[in-house]
Amino acid sequence: MKILGIETSCDETAAAVVENGTKVLSNTVASSSEIHAKTGGVIPEQAARQQVKSVIPVIGIALSRARLNPSKVDAISVTVGPGLIGSLLVGIETAKTLSLLWKKPIVPANHLVAHIYANWLETENKPKFPALALVVSGGHTDLVLMKEHGKLEWIGGTRDDAAGEAFDKTARLLGLPYPGGPAIAAEAAEYKENKSKLKMFPRPMLENNNFDWSFSGLKTAVARQILSSEKKISKERLAAEVQEAIIDVLVKKSLRAVDKFKPKSFLLAGGVAANKRLGEKFNLGIRNSKLEIDFFVPSPKLCTDNAAYIASYAHFNYSPLPWQKLEANPQLTITGQI
Ligand code: KG4
Ligand code: ZN
Repeated sequence: MKILGIETSCDETAAAVVENGTKVLSNTVASSSEIHAKTGGVIPEQAARQQVKSVIPVIGIALSRARLNPSKVDAISVTVGPGLIGSLLVGIETAKTLSLLWKKPIVPANHLVAHIYANWLETENKPKFPALALVVSGGHTDLVLMKEHGKLEWIGGTRDDAAGEAFDKTARLLGLPYPGGPAIAAEAAEYKENKSKLKMFPRPMLENNNFDWSFSGLKTAVARQILSSEKKISKERLAAEVQEAIIDVLVKKSLRAVDKFKPKSFLLAGGVAANKRLGEKFNLGIRNSKLEIDFFVPSPKLCTDNAAYIASYAHFNYSPLPWQKLEANPQLTITGQI
């Protein structure tokens, strides 16, 4: 089955064709992040306007790269939430129109759950259930237990800012560009000292007996450090400190959850999963704790927003809806009903 995925939840316009949920035939992404870099963050109105400009060309390119005539597409899938309402509507209305025109079924996708499916792409070894999945994106941080496709139980998440948001906001304080995650990672890579000694910023909620995180205090701690008149600390050290503070709590609490729920696989997903140091620390933590588990992290380009995981999600959670029933749901949660 060949599914055309469409993703327009924020500032990326993406389309992809995936065969049988695992084989990527094409994966096209246009991003308006350069425009948002000028303002230091996404302006929803501008993001939606860029979606309108890009959506048809991006779908056209994805089909031609997959060497696929629309008649050979088996189904269309599109993100219905969560995301920015204006951006979501562009993808949804386009998908509805194509579904009607080409007479193809349409499968609504939950963007957060779909992120996890990047772990089924471009890999020989496939995740086994039960799996624990940590979704770390720009707007969400959720830990879920996946008993099988479509059966998710929420275990924990952030109480305030998402992990990606913490990267983006502290990057701004450090004078680094949007998106902040890759900018902090690049700056931190310049710091050559021993990273295990980096303990400048707090690790909130680490000792709590739950699987929740809190990242909003990090901004204040970074701002205070920058404003303090004491000894000047280099930008690369501060970036490395921020990165370490975020990663440390993500890894430690996730591994505690692995110990408690004893899943067969651990799946990292979302834009922040593109962070190399995060993957390294997970691998190291798993090795040191001798937990028996297969650890999965997608390649960086499959972690950040794209439509290949939307198409994969649709294959494994195949429940088409009549096009008239598809609605944008900007507040959709990871376990929310579409
Ligand atoms: O999943 P995603 O592409 O979009 C959303 O659904 O939000 O995630 C975007 C987030 C941004 O906050 C960005 O700064 C972060 O992922 N990100 C990273 C890296 N690449 C992207 N964070 C840390 N390290 C990276 N290499
Ligand atoms: Zn995303």
